[in-house]
Amino acid sequence: MLQSPLQEIKQRYRVVGNSDELNRALDIAVQVARTNLSVLIVGESGVGKEIIPRIIHDNSVRKHQNYFAINCGSIPEGTIDSELFGHEKGAFTGAVAEREGYFGAANNGTLFLDEVGELPLATQARLLRVLETGEYIRVGSSEVRKTNVRIVAATNVNLQNAISEGRFREDLYFRLATIPIKMPPLRNRGQDIELLFRKFANDIAEEYNIAPIRLTDDGKALLMSYRWPGNIRQLKNVVEQLSIISPERMITAEMLRKCDISDDNEAGTGLILAGKKTDFTHSYENERDMLFHVLSSLGKEVKEIKAMLSMSQPSVIQSYSSQDVVPAEEVTLLDDAVLIDKNSIEKALKHNKGNRSKAAKELGISERTMYRRLKEYGLA
Ligand SMILES: Nc1ncnc2c1ncn2[C@@H]1O[C@H](COP(=O)(O)OP(=O)(O)OP(=O)(O)O)[C@@H](O)[C@H]1O
Ligand SMILES: [Mg+2]
Repeated sequence: MLQSPLQEIKQRYRVVGNSDELNRALDIAVQVARTNLSVLIVGESGVGKEIIPRIIHDNSVRKHQNYFAINCGSIPEGTIDSELFGHEKGAFTGAVAEREGYFGAANNGTLFLDEVGELPLATQARLLRVLETGEYIRVGSSEVRKTNVRIVAATNVNLQNAISEGRFREDLYFRLATIPIKMPPLRNRGQDIELLFRKFANDIAEEYNIAPIRLTDDGKALLMSYRWPGNIRQLKNVVEQLSIISPERMITAEMLRKCDISDDNEAGTGLILAGKKTDFTHSYENERDMLFHVLSSLGKEVKEIKAMLSMSQPSVIQSYSSQDVVPAEEVTLLDDAVLIDKNSIEKALKHNKGNRSKAAKELGISERTMYRRLKEYGLA
């Protein structure tokens, strides 16, 4: 039987799912592969953005040329220009030899710029130039070089916000987003949730030679109504966890709740503030937005605590602040008050096979906060 091109792509890249939004994203990727247009993939963390640039490269005329995937968020600001555009020998302390850089090395090929929203502004200017003219200059050089590179970029942050806050160039955004591809969040993918559950359950069963786990009807219903803030990455972790630790092979809603998959859509990332789990019902652009939310919830709780204390010890209450909501200016002071308990960090590291960056994503914290906590807990 003849397969449709979309089915072929899914089989080749082991992409599971059949929701309209997913099919549309894959279809655009295949269509755009034949062109040289820049593509910007947008979507929440863990939705599966990383497969798209591979599909584009492999289905383009560049497929026999170099493909590089670069995580812009993990390269230090001081070295990113030299990594991308290369440097001359002696351009800076430690530049003992010249370096070609990705834009040179990927000539005639494809560069995938992941987490493009993290690029420093100076690098954004260089990137815009190479996108517009194909020209770039190595660090420490004055010679203009030419390159022919196809750019596919991805981001899980709202670049419009970054633009309005002056952190991302609008002209670069329009240049990158010639073709936008939106990867849908898992909660919008209906039956795909169950298909993915099965896929991950079968994969792990095969790997460890165990019986695959399956879902009861109430388990299925819970997975379908859950918010999935960590999307496919989170689902995979849950399935792996249950496959290994559950003596039961039929997974019920109650068992899922023990893995923090709850009816009230609480994400259960293990983030606690003053010993209380916070609400993760919303998606936060960054840690600061989340802190604002946490602090305003805390404000409401202060009121409740005041009421409780006033019932038991009326004299104590006077020494507490009369504010109900912590003012925004205090957010920075309270940055370190956000505690991720050691256990959650250890769990997240275990799920992610020791990968700190992925563990931080799962916990919904920045890599910087992750490193701070690892140091504090002696896990570094
Ligand atoms: N359709 C799919 N079928 C099977 N596995 C998938 C699918 N989509 C994603 N995955 C798996 O989900 C995980 C997360 O995907 P990926 O790393 O591409 O997310 P992302 O969108 O790049 O997230 P982030 O923005 O946090 O980097 C990976 O383990 C990936 O293999
Ligand atoms: Mg990614």
